[in-house]
Amino acid sequence: MNHQLQTKPPEATETFPGLFRCPDLISTRDLGPRGVEAVLHLAGLMKSRPSVFQRALAGRQMVMFFEKPSLRTRLTFEAGMTSLGGAAMFVDQTKARLDARETLSDIAHNLERWVDVIVLRTFAQETIVGMAQYASVPVINALSDLEHPCQALADYFTLQERFCDLKKICLAYVGDGNNVAHSLLLTCAFLGSSIRVATPAGYAPNAQIVADALEISKLTGAHIELLTEPHAAVAGVDAVYTDAWASMGQEEEGEKRAQIFPPYQVNRKLIAHAAPHAVFMHCLPAHRGQEVTDEVMDSDNSVIFDQAENRLHVQKAILYLLLGSSVRLPVRSPHA
Ligand code: CP
Repeated sequence: MNHQLQTKPPEATETFPGLFRCPDLISTRDLGPRGVEAVLHLAGLMKSRPSVFQRALAGRQMVMFFEKPSLRTRLTFEAGMTSLGGAAMFVDQTKARLDARETLSDIAHNLERWVDVIVLRTFAQETIVGMAQYASVPVINALSDLEHPCQALADYFTLQERFCDLKKICLAYVGDGNNVAHSLLLTCAFLGSSIRVATPAGYAPNAQIVADALEISKLTGAHIELLTEPHAAVAGVDAVYTDAWASMGQEEEGEKRAQIFPPYQVNRKLIAHAAPHAVFMHCLPAHRGQEVTDEVMDSDNSVIFDQAENRLHVQKAILYLLLGSSVRLPVRSPHA
């Protein structure tokens, strides 16, 4: 932690051309196209040469406050920080909201005296925004009702491993227009890739996220389509993605959604409309027999455990970037 640092540095990307730094990861939007590229590049280095980075964050401390359950996010952040030489602490906040006992600003001003980075999994995006405003140390969104940036970055890293050129592929997301769909839309937009999102009427992605993704796509050349017909979304794509029909916190809507979403189930019949080489993706946990069948989950084209593994490498990259280790970006031709 840095007791001298009372305010976070401004957008340092412009100050140091060729280097990327980011004060917080509240939304994928915080990264911009250069930040998304930096995370994917650095994650590749960390995955291929982990020993190079094993003391990179030595002496640094991370605290995680989770208001919702987690398997992957908690363990990959913990394992990632430890493998970079740092320390991780976990606070189970599933029984009471983070600010139930004292104000968010008081919590933030305590935490910034003890730790170097705060990782939050919350319901309200405003909780993460508030923590980032009050705390002088970086804050990372480990899932909110609005976004799941670490997940989407790991997903696009997985697609890059499989297909190399993300500008040449199309991902179809089928199901609920939820936090994962939002982060996939924004990440796709920054990468100049293509995405089709098919949701039932009334379950489309957040309008502001869509507007932002479309605005970004004007600069990057990304292709974004919103549909309601799952077969049209999947036709000829390179990857088919789905997620739970009812996210954490929406359990009481489960029965209603179970009546609406079955046409969006990813099964052998639906995935047959995709390209023969198409991969199946899911952020997990999955509800087998609901949004996806066993035969798709367990097929040779399923990359669900690659996605889960890559949460580790991508989050190590995020921690390294946010904790002040500027990273020189690869030099690329503007036309590449
Ligand atoms: N995909 C994901 O965020 O998994 P957890 O809920 O287990 O962290």
